[in-house]
Amino acid sequence: MKTHLISGGCGFVGRNMVNRLYNNTNDRIVFIDNLAVGKHPNTWLNHPFQKSQGNMNIYGEDERLCFIEEDFRVTLQKLVHQPEYLKKELGLDIERFADVYHFAAIVGGRAMIDGDPIQVALDLSIDAEFFYWISRHKPERVLYPSSSAAYPVNLQTESNAIQLKESDIDFNHMGQPDMTYGWTKLTGEFLAQITAKHYGVSITCIRPFSGYGEDQDYSYPTPAIARRAVFKEAPFEVWGSGHQGRDFVHIDDVLDCVEVAMEKIHDGSAINIGQGVLTSFRDLIEIFCEFAGYQPEIKPLLDKPVGVHSRYCDMTWVKDNLGWEPKISIREGMKRVYDAVMAREIAEGNLKPE
Ligand SMILES: NC(=O)c1ccc[n+]([C@@H]2O[C@H](COP(=O)([O-])OP(=O)(O)OC[C@H]3O[C@@H](n4cnc5c(N)ncnc54)[C@H](O)[C@@H]3O)[C@@H](O)[C@H]2O)c1
Repeated sequence: MKTHLISGGCGFVGRNMVNRLYNNTNDRIVFIDNLAVGKHPNTWLNHPFQKSQGNMNIYGEDERLCFIEEDFRVTLQKLVHQPEYLKKELGLDIERFADVYHFAAIVGGRAMIDGDPIQVALDLSIDAEFFYWISRHKPERVLYPSSSAAYPVNLQTESNAIQLKESDIDFNHMGQPDMTYGWTKLTGEFLAQITAKHYGVSITCIRPFSGYGEDQDYSYPTPAIARRAVFKEAPFEVWGSGHQGRDFVHIDDVLDCVEVAMEKIHDGSAINIGQGVLTSFRDLIEIFCEFAGYQPEIKPLLDKPVGVHSRYCDMTWVKDNLGWEPKISIREGMKRVYDAVMAREIAEGNLKPE
């Protein structure tokens, strides 16, 4: 049986990947998270808890889901210094991991990126330990999620808002990325290319734009705006002028693209994942308020952090070279989020069913 590894497996992207791999394969999935932000699997896995082995919980009747609650850096150091650790301590007989998805990171949204940049810089230490381990372990394939934040900020201003192309990041002519978050992702991409080239590991890097989905935390703008629309906030507050825009892409599309990309990209180079559509926060509010059936006045909160003015991508390279295009339109994806938020609020007793 193949075994895949997912770091940060209890975060937004990680949870979706754990469920997807479990549903689409017969393989075993080991996922690791320190639960700094992530949710405990008891709250989101629809498969029964079976047993514990050391600090690992095993779920699913076929025992294919193995959760280790630990700082991934600690796991990585154990794996480097004692390659037999998983077998000896946890009874997991794994010669070599098949796919390794590295989602463990301090992300936290705009408030964290601007408000505590040195905490975000700890991602450098997570990534450095990670690439060191994979250069030794050499899994079959590796996914490294970079970010749209790696792009130079001077290409994302009000007067210079362009559709960002993969080639807009050039290690020979560097621009300045978005805060420490963007720098860590750029460094991660560089380490990915070096690890692929010098150690012969197959690595794919992705630059997702603003990923969203039904089970995303309320600290992110999409579910937070949906929730306020569900409660018919009026006037409707928006951070900044609300004219700043992002390229929102549904998590199912992101993970579909990952699957295609990992088949075709092995040298650590990075691709965009977005819709290629710029949607302003005012547009987003309008969509959710339309679902809620009202038209509030918009109240800008000019003291809130807003990040760059316009961040969206050009998907031409991906379409031409991978033959992949996103399938879930903004309206369809946002309706799914709206319905999920409504269901969550009703289930928690905060809202009466209509
Ligand atoms: N969600 C998006 O739209 C998006 C866009 C671009 C890039 N990414 C990247 O994808 C990855 C996952 O993002 P996400 O949205 O799921 O974020 P998230 O914050 O929901 O998930 C990150 C997970 O990592 C865990 N974690 C943090 N530090 C850890 C450590 N030292 N050891 C073990 N676990 C640790 C957290 O508890 C959390 O569960 C990140 O690298 C992020 O930068 C995401």
